[in-house]
Amino acid sequence: MKNPTDPTILDAARDVLERASNILVFTGAGMSAESGVPTFRGAEGLWKAFKAEELATPEAFQRDPRLVWEWYDWRRQVVLGCRVHDGHRSVAAAQAARRVRVVTQNVDGLHARAANALDPEATAGRTLAMHGSLFRMMCTHCPYEREDLDPVDTSAAEGLPRCPDCDHLLRPGVVWFGETLEARVVETAFTWASQADVCVVVGTSAVVEPAASIPRLVLEKGRVVIEVNLAPTPLTSLATYAMQGRASGLLPRLLEPSG
Ligand code: OAD
Repeated sequence: MKNPTDPTILDAARDVLERASNILVFTGAGMSAESGVPTFRGAEGLWKAFKAEELATPEAFQRDPRLVWEWYDWRRQVVLGCRVHDGHRSVAAAQAARRVRVVTQNVDGLHARAANALDPEATAGRTLAMHGSLFRMMCTHCPYEREDLDPVDTSAAEGLPRCPDCDHLLRPGVVWFGETLEARVVETAFTWASQADVCVVVGTSAVVEPAASIPRLVLEKGRVVIEVNLAPTPLTSLATYAMQGRASGLLPRLLEPSG
């Protein structure tokens, strides 16, 4: 790794990206921070104010589904009030040019929103949300699921959303702690990683598995990893290029065609 304050790093990383034919952008909560979505770790992170085991586990939902829905409904409303930033837009433009695929740990749908706003057809099938979506509801009992953007009535347990097929409770369509990711999702993420010449890792503390193994796989294959983060992470010393800075500023400079 080169010194992250070295001004030539940006140029070098940009050169590598310009020559690459298959780029994977792998993102975490820091990608959405400048849109106003709270991150999980760090001084202002959600896990400082809330306990994951009381809100983001199957046991928590069994114990108190109303409380869990209240928290997810709040997060849905926060995200619905957010806008994508220049970093999302530059990634979406590169997706439309068929050079970039995105694997995100984020459940806010902002990558998809930016891609759809730009060119839904050209960007189709080029974003994978590994941890699910805040705007998906799924049945706790049967295979029923649906996209849903409406506010959830969390005033009483009796009013929580129920499955139209079997009448069991619907739950947020996200992956909780203690749950296994769908095999199909993991397989797609790691296939995309193994096909990438370069992986740009943006705004993730790179600690939650199996997602955190994605950049490691790219490095093991002898390919390039470019990290964009405000602060050092466990990946920083391993990355080929590590840049300290904001996603909204660095991604356009890395991905947009010059001149
Ligand atoms: P974290 O909150 O752990 O990490 C956010 C990272 O973004 C930190 O390394 C910050 O330094 C960095 N960051 C913050 N603002 C930034 C900005 N403007 N530009 C660039 N970097 C910035 O979030 P994740 O790594 O995404 O899982 O967390 C991974 C998983 O843990 C989440 O998907 C979630 C959580 O618990 C589940 O809910 C299953």
